[in-house]
Amino acid sequence: MNDSLKRYTDIDVMKYLFPDQASTIAPEIDLVYFAIMAISLLFIVVIAFAIVALAATYRRRHKDEVGTYEHEPLSLELAWTIIPLFISVGMFAIGVPAFLKAKSIPEGALEIAVVGKQWMWKFQHPNGRREINDLHIPIGQPINFKIVSQDVIHSLYIPAFRIKQDALPMYYTNIWAEPTKIGKYRILCTEYCGKDHSVMGGWVHVLSQEDYETWLQADPAHKIAGRPPLKMAGVSLGGGGTDGQMDIPDGVDEALVPMRDAPGLVKEGFSLFQSLTCVVCHKAESAGVGPSLLGAYGGKSVMANGTTVNFNDNYIRESILNPTAKVKTGYGPVMPAFNGRVSEEDINALIAYIKYLKR
Ligand code: CUA
Repeated sequence: MNDSLKRYTDIDVMKYLFPDQASTIAPEIDLVYFAIMAISLLFIVVIAFAIVALAATYRRRHKDEVGTYEHEPLSLELAWTIIPLFISVGMFAIGVPAFLKAKSIPEGALEIAVVGKQWMWKFQHPNGRREINDLHIPIGQPINFKIVSQDVIHSLYIPAFRIKQDALPMYYTNIWAEPTKIGKYRILCTEYCGKDHSVMGGWVHVLSQEDYETWLQADPAHKIAGRPPLKMAGVSLGGGGTDGQMDIPDGVDEALVPMRDAPGLVKEGFSLFQSLTCVVCHKAESAGVGPSLLGAYGGKSVMANGTTVNFNDNYIRESILNPTAKVKTGYGPVMPAFNGRVSEEDINALIAYIKYLKR
């Protein structure tokens, strides 16, 4: 038997039909799913039986036979309207709490940035560590997946967690899960995205808290794969001591420099903030050519056209890629567009840094 054929015969069918329940929400989603499945099966059986039985009972028995008109009894009409009404309301009643839970990201969730791309999933941890098609996360910790696509629409699907969320090229979407079982589970793409859609996927590895810590430390933030070490005057990206600030680069306000114990992604963002020369205009005080970003995250900003926007991840991303779309009041549309000059991973680092400046 050749290998590709073997791949399909080796599939454990039961595992695919009934994946592990490996997140806190999985039992609730399964309850809704199997309840609706059971009701549907019941109706399929009843209706199929009725079709066959009625067709047999009331079949035409000789050539000249014609039907007679019968008015349905009111009680029957009411019964088949009211009973399904209650069944539908019941489905709604069990579905809504599960949906709301799935959509409400808990405070303090660990944010993992996810970038979908033809044809792979890329992940960034808060300490700056990156992975492709493999994702390591700790058990018992809510994980907030912040998802974006760098090309077409993809969809992040982790069956064992019962979560599925589209990855869009226009803006960030979020979904969360809290793993409850140590193990290795499939990650899939569930939106047809081109030639290699079927192989776009990987594995999520749920580790114990200790194993996750060990794993995180195994690749410190300053050894970020895929990026040459940044050479910045006076800036040290390394971990080192816990005493006070990073070295302060020439001409940069101390308030803009992350503390030495700041997460790796924040430091990466700060380096980009300098190398892309953002720091020339976005100074600590508001006197710069651009608005100060200190304390801006999470607030509201008034735009030149009088509208108000929420200063969140999506606004930052749009302002980096297309700065003149929404310009803060009091400032000119002078910022150059960084579309094509920064990767989605760079944007995630810049957002982590600007978010860090909110203190
Ligand atoms: Cu990506 Cu399908």
